[in-house]
Amino acid sequence: MSRLVINGYHRKNRINKNIYGHFTEHLGRCIYEGIYVGENSGIPNEKGMRKDVVSALREIRVPVLRWPGGNFADEYHWMDGIGTRSERRKTINTHWGGDVEDNSFGTHEFFELCRQIGCEPYINVNLGSGRVEEMQKWIEYMTFAGDSSLTRLRKKNGQEKPWKLKYLGIGNENWLCGGNMTAGYYADVYNQFQTYVRSYGEESVYKIACGPLDDDYEWTDVLMKKAANNLDAISLHYYTYPGVNIEGQKGESIKFGESEWYHTISQSLKMENLIRIHTGIMRRYDPKGRVDFIIDEWGNWYNPEPGTNPGHLFQQNTVRDAVTAAANLNIFNQYSDRISMANIAQAVNVLQSVLITEKDKVVKTPTYYVYDMFKYHQNAILLDSYLETEEIGPEADRIVNMNHSVSIGDDGKLNITIVNFSADTSYDIECEILGGKADEAEAFILHGAMNAHNTVQASDCVKKVQFYDYKMTERGIDFEIPPRSVLLIRL
Ligand code: AHR
Repeated sequence: MSRLVINGYHRKNRINKNIYGHFTEHLGRCIYEGIYVGENSGIPNEKGMRKDVVSALREIRVPVLRWPGGNFADEYHWMDGIGTRSERRKTINTHWGGDVEDNSFGTHEFFELCRQIGCEPYINVNLGSGRVEEMQKWIEYMTFAGDSSLTRLRKKNGQEKPWKLKYLGIGNENWLCGGNMTAGYYADVYNQFQTYVRSYGEESVYKIACGPLDDDYEWTDVLMKKAANNLDAISLHYYTYPGVNIEGQKGESIKFGESEWYHTISQSLKMENLIRIHTGIMRRYDPKGRVDFIIDEWGNWYNPEPGTNPGHLFQQNTVRDAVTAAANLNIFNQYSDRISMANIAQAVNVLQSVLITEKDKVVKTPTYYVYDMFKYHQNAILLDSYLETEEIGPEADRIVNMNHSVSIGDDGKLNITIVNFSADTSYDIECEILGGKADEAEAFILHGAMNAHNTVQASDCVKKVQFYDYKMTERGIDFEIPPRSVLLIRL
């Protein structure tokens, strides 16, 4: 029997809902086909946006959406994506399969998408191959209310009022695809760019700098040293590549066994250490913790599905992905005093997507259901809690058997999310709530075989279902969590 103790007397910080953010990139079938099909499509749409996809994203309460990349952002020129669609420039998507980009989805379409989903826009501007002037003009075009040539152009293009834009990323992966810069050089260029980020709206623009890759602690150190006063957040990118000792291979999304199961989870759990160390470095330059930490690209990255365009990075999604998504979201909740946003890559049809589309059909992935179960943590207050754990897994990939987080919403309900990482063992948990008593519970679980996944032909193999294997007690609630599962209990 493991103990879970929830300290209702110790309310910590509010969990920023943006931790449950998503990312859309002009990559493969993410934007085109996955989200935007155009007004003349036979697929039901509103102003070109797929109704099925928008409604699924609304259901999980997507709070914020990052766009247009990724690598694509650092070669994106916003003027290509405004005006009459048929006259927009056709450009090459050099990063992703060399596709011809017809720019039919641009600034106006992105804001329309966010309006339909009901989320905040987060735009990543081009620092790698763009100019300061180009960025400055884009911000004016989007957010200035007065009468300038650029705002006249915006109005001519159909948008009378300025849009509200809070989140602005300045550059993407500038240590590699975004210009191969050193940390010092990027920090200097960042300082120059951010000078010209004018806030025309009521709220100031929240500036996000390109942060480190994985454990590049020097990048964080140099960036904070040179630019801490000029930024609101820095953003880490961390992907999990489960390929085990296979040269140049990232591993398969569906065909894997127990060793890859544990290896993927152990790699994924490294997120916690990365957060601790990077935010520790940030504290040296910002002892009060004014500068936030963001993870605006994360998730599992496998080999592309056989038979698909390798440049489109399309992969399937199994119970393994659900388990690692939940594990990371629990970590983000636990560190939500420092983390203000996270965006899993990418929302539709790419890496660890929540939705997969095939023509007029949409499939909810196991990862989708995790976001559905965890949505109650959005803007809730994190509670102090402790879960007794043990080590499991093969020698090379020892991991904890479970992770968890607990919050209390403004509705007074407790949200407990727990993941069982074991491939074969269930655990009995005795949960005690200090400073509170629960009379009834509602619980949902997602579990299945490691490789279980959903397809158009079989779209319901993995989903959240109601869970009844619990008993209310004097102290709280006792339950048994099965192997390979994600559990939500609401009290
Ligand atoms: O998510 C795919 C790519 O991964 C992004 O475009 C880039 O930022 C990262 O390398």
